[in-house]
Amino acid sequence: MDKIIIKGGKKLKGEIVISGSKNAALPIIVSSLLTEGWNTVYNVPDLMDVRTIKRLLVGLGVKVEEGENLRINAGSITNCEASYDLVKTMRASILVLGPLVARMGRARVSLPGGCAIGARPVNLHLKALQALGAEIELRDGYVEAKASRLKGAKIYFDISTVTGTENIMMAATLAKGTTVLGNAAREPEIINLSSVLNDMGAKITGAGTDVITIEGVESLSPVEARVIPDRVEAGTYMIAAGITGGDVTIRGCDPRHLDVPIEKLKEAGVKITPLEGGLRVKGSKGIRSVDIKTLPYPGFPTDLQAQMMVLMSAAEGISVITESVFENRFMHVNELIRMGADIVIEGNSAIVKGVKKLRGAPVMATDLRASASLVLAGLAGEGKTELSRVYHIDRGYERIEEKLSSLGADIRRVRE
Ligand code: UD1
Repeated sequence: MDKIIIKGGKKLKGEIVISGSKNAALPIIVSSLLTEGWNTVYNVPDLMDVRTIKRLLVGLGVKVEEGENLRINAGSITNCEASYDLVKTMRASILVLGPLVARMGRARVSLPGGCAIGARPVNLHLKALQALGAEIELRDGYVEAKASRLKGAKIYFDISTVTGTENIMMAATLAKGTTVLGNAAREPEIINLSSVLNDMGAKITGAGTDVITIEGVESLSPVEARVIPDRVEAGTYMIAAGITGGDVTIRGCDPRHLDVPIEKLKEAGVKITPLEGGLRVKGSKGIRSVDIKTLPYPGFPTDLQAQMMVLMSAAEGISVITESVFENRFMHVNELIRMGADIVIEGNSAIVKGVKKLRGAPVMATDLRASASLVLAGLAGEGKTELSRVYHIDRGYERIEEKLSSLGADIRRVRE
């Protein structure tokens, strides 16, 4: 297994370009299942999760052509099953459930099971699909769903769920009648998906608000789709610039998707200036503690919580970081403590006392965003950090060591 080795203490300087969003690319790629013919997707990041979803589609009989852009043709779907082997490596595989039932009338998708950041059930996806008229059975660890044609319905999500909203929005495009989703997730990735679906001929309004209305249509046509920039990757590099006292220009991101993280970073003393097509981020000497509470969009994203905790570990004062989206997303805390951080967990909050210096150490990645936080701690820390289980970071950060090296970081990958 690969390792990432970092020698900390370098101020990051220069310019980087943000990749396409993982969380937008996955549902957009899956949405091809709703059409016959070639779809082209632009700005797809080269990530492990994207490879997993492509493998899953190929397993369904879908044609996938790699090249400068991704081309997908779901003209003939020969199999409606997503196996445990793939789903267990990526929970977002559940996204194929709604589109398969809508297009093929049936699907068999492995239940994802638990994951490092909590139980993460898919009950809301299933309940909503049932409301659209699908018959659902759980058998041998799989969800088996069927419906001759889905029917529009009024659905209220008890919890704001991103992939749940996407799954049901896709399914409802081909349902008979109108579907209204209440307490829908409002993430920019939902807006990206809904505009791709509308280009295909769907009739969706309200994406980006908590009520989405989908008027079902008979069929959808292939399109050219573009994936939005990855706001979590951009946020991670903003924190990297801040924590190393660097000066980094981040190109190709959409600052409107980062309002709350930008405000919090400014409050902490990081200097952020908007530029044409991006941002300039400069660290300052005295980072100040700020309190953070993760919330569904437009609140502070849970996907930046671990990275922000590293910044707060190097700040002056005490910060309270409350995780309200996932119940067990503090796996990085013990690793950060090994690097000299002073953090105590109280329920779903972490009390972070800033320390003078973080120190390099051998650490282990436990999940995607936790591993990004350990890289940030390594960049800021004194001495050498050796991060193992790097496959977690490869799920969601494109060429991270290359991008950081180009900013002057002393970081390399050791292949084992
Ligand atoms: C998506 C993102 C992930 C991000 C998360 C929250 C993708 C591919 N992944 O994950 O990066 O961290 O949103 O912003 O877009 N829940 C239920 N039942 C369900 C579904 C969800 O109880 O059926 C709960 C979850 O356990 C969690 C909360 O709802 O506590 C929000 O989860 P959700 O928005 O569904 O996360 P994902 O879509 O899996």
